[in-house]
Amino acid sequence: MFAPMALLSGKNVVVFGVANKRSIAWGIAQALQREGARVALTYQNDRMGEAVKKLAPELGGDVVLAPCDVTVDGDIERCFDAIGKEFDGIDGLVHSIAFAKREELGGNFVDTSWDGYALAQQVSAWSLIGLCKAAAPRMEGRQAGVVCLSYYGAERVVQNYNVMGVAKAALQNAQPAASAVSR
Ligand SMILES: NC(=O)c1ccc[n+]([C@@H]2O[C@H](COP(=O)([O-])OP(=O)(O)OC[C@H]3O[C@@H](n4cnc5c(N)ncnc54)[C@H](O)[C@@H]3O)[C@@H](O)[C@H]2O)c1
Repeated sequence: MFAPMALLSGKNVVVFGVANKRSIAWGIAQALQREGARVALTYQNDRMGEAVKKLAPELGGDVVLAPCDVTVDGDIERCFDAIGKEFDGIDGLVHSIAFAKREELGGNFVDTSWDGYALAQQVSAWSLIGLCKAAAPRMEGRQAGVVCLSYYGAERVVQNYNVMGVAKAALQNAQPAASAVSR
């Protein structure tokens, strides 16, 4: 009987943004594994690492795990160095990370603090640029792809989305970073 070939067999994909089994990134990782990709999961800190280490075996035996907090200097490079020891190259990068302080997701938008604005931008938008820069040398010549997750609030005002709407607009306009690695 004809068995359809998995779409991503032989591909190495790094997924940023699994915190728990409700994370969109977890669904993405499961779909990648189902399609035959080898998956690396990163986790933000030791606490989330515990949860990710418990989930990872559900993807099969060969999952690469590496810590990465995009706000910590040098973490992105350390993360890709660790993944580079396991993957001969990277074919796909999934950016499924975002953060804003609770107090910035409500109330009057003009009360947004600089700290809150900067943190939301750093984690939710700048991180795509940082990840693409670090991934680029490992993606060369591989027809690699980058995926990130946005929301309607990037384009239209959505009540209480506030600083995250600005961050998502920035994320969407950081696409040149993704094109640079996919060349
Ligand atoms: N849940 C929704 O309804 C929805 C809708 C549209 C878009 N999105 C987007 O989907 C993506 C995933 O969201 P989710 O709903 O799965 O939530 P989630 O909380 O499961 O995922 C967010 C991830 O961001 C990571 N993160 C936060 N700060 C970080 C940092 N400093 N360094 C590294 N990682 C950090 C967290 O560890 C977590 O894994 C986000 O970009 C979110 O904006 C979600």
